[in-house]
Amino acid sequence: MAALLRVRGASQIVQVCANGEKVLRGAAMKEIAVLEGEGGRGVGVVVSKAGSITAVGYDDELDSQYSNWSFNKVIDANGCCVLPGLIDGHTHPVWVGDRVHEFALKLAGATYMDIHQQGGGIHYTVNCVRQASPDQLYASLIDRLSAMLRCGTTVVEAKSGYGLDTTTEIKMLQVLNRARQEHPISLSITYCGAHAVPKGSSAEEATDHILQEQIPAIVEQCAQDQLHVDNIDVFCEKGVFDRNQSREILLAGKKAGWKINFHGDELHPMQCGELAGELEADAVSHLEEVSDSGISAMVQSGTVGILLPTTAYILRLKSPPARKMIDQGMAVALGSDFNPNAYCMSMPLVMHLACVNLHMTMEEALVAATINSAAALGMAEDVGSIEVGKRGDLLILSTARWEHLVYQLACHDQCIKYVIKDGNIVYSK
Ligand code: NIG
Ligand code: FE
Repeated sequence: MAALLRVRGASQIVQVCANGEKVLRGAAMKEIAVLEGEGGRGVGVVVSKAGSITAVGYDDELDSQYSNWSFNKVIDANGCCVLPGLIDGHTHPVWVGDRVHEFALKLAGATYMDIHQQGGGIHYTVNCVRQASPDQLYASLIDRLSAMLRCGTTVVEAKSGYGLDTTTEIKMLQVLNRARQEHPISLSITYCGAHAVPKGSSAEEATDHILQEQIPAIVEQCAQDQLHVDNIDVFCEKGVFDRNQSREILLAGKKAGWKINFHGDELHPMQCGELAGELEADAVSHLEEVSDSGISAMVQSGTVGILLPTTAYILRLKSPPARKMIDQGMAVALGSDFNPNAYCMSMPLVMHLACVNLHMTMEEALVAATINSAAALGMAEDVGSIEVGKRGDLLILSTARWEHLVYQLACHDQCIKYVIKDGNIVYSK
């Protein structure tokens, strides 16, 4: 008998969950399952030919259980620890044309909305993306996904939203679909045609266009198997799409079979937590301005809050109330929000900021970047923990304890030794 991969000799297998939990809410986010080596006894993992985890345990037990097996690859993880691949719950990775010039404006005091209203921000990127060829967009996307893998991310949510017109939104979704086939990272694909109101339109007109033209055109392509879309997103914000417009668009997406996963309560209180509760949304991102009743509504509906600490940091926003959310029983996830405004794709750095600025513990940050991000994307059956039956998505650190991933600020490349996707080594230091 043969298997793809045997990892042996590790000091810790940080499983995160060990009892098939599909999400960890509130106080449960503090408890992570860790299989610790003891004395000279190492711990290890076996990944099958099909790329899924078939065993997690002590090496002596795995050695006798698998004594007649051959392995394509054996990794000696002596002195190392093993974690699940990280899951980035929110990114905008399809674009060309950076916005480094806007960073200088923001440092000089301009707000995100100042720049947006003057035709920069998302509008600037929309112009660049409309002019770009699919191959150009694809090439930059692939470079970014590969860089994300090197940071330890093995699953990423990725949005359209820099087209706003039907042709360009479909172009972006096609580029994402091609990457889904051709790149080892797993993608959860989000249609975000309501990312901004196109220049020259009102929000009402843009909403009508999305409902009457854009969603039907994308649904048609999905029905013909030419596109695959997982989630629907809207930027629900003062001066962008209001709650009623957001509700209509999100419901149309839900009808198309997509999961509701939207931008809410970022710059102004928009009662997006309440809207998420009403729509039983899978996830809402940002939530810097969420209300107490919004938190209660999300606890009730089981909606995951995806927090994006890099954006709050770069835009000098107040931090989302992560402590209050967790203490009240919400499930919190994390995302990098990689986009031309917030150029960061490192989930270890995001986890660090979640600890220092959002007052989460390292355990909570790890849960948020693994099983809870998986839950936000409806993928917790397959990824987010090291458990038998899940994909063989693993990170091997050169340190004996996993906390180094968070502690070693902005130098994850020092401790990430291997990134493994579906049992294959996709990065080694
Ligand atoms: O999540 N807030 C809306 N969307 C993005 C920013 C996109 C952009 O500025 O290009 C976000 O921060
Ligand atoms: Fe975003």
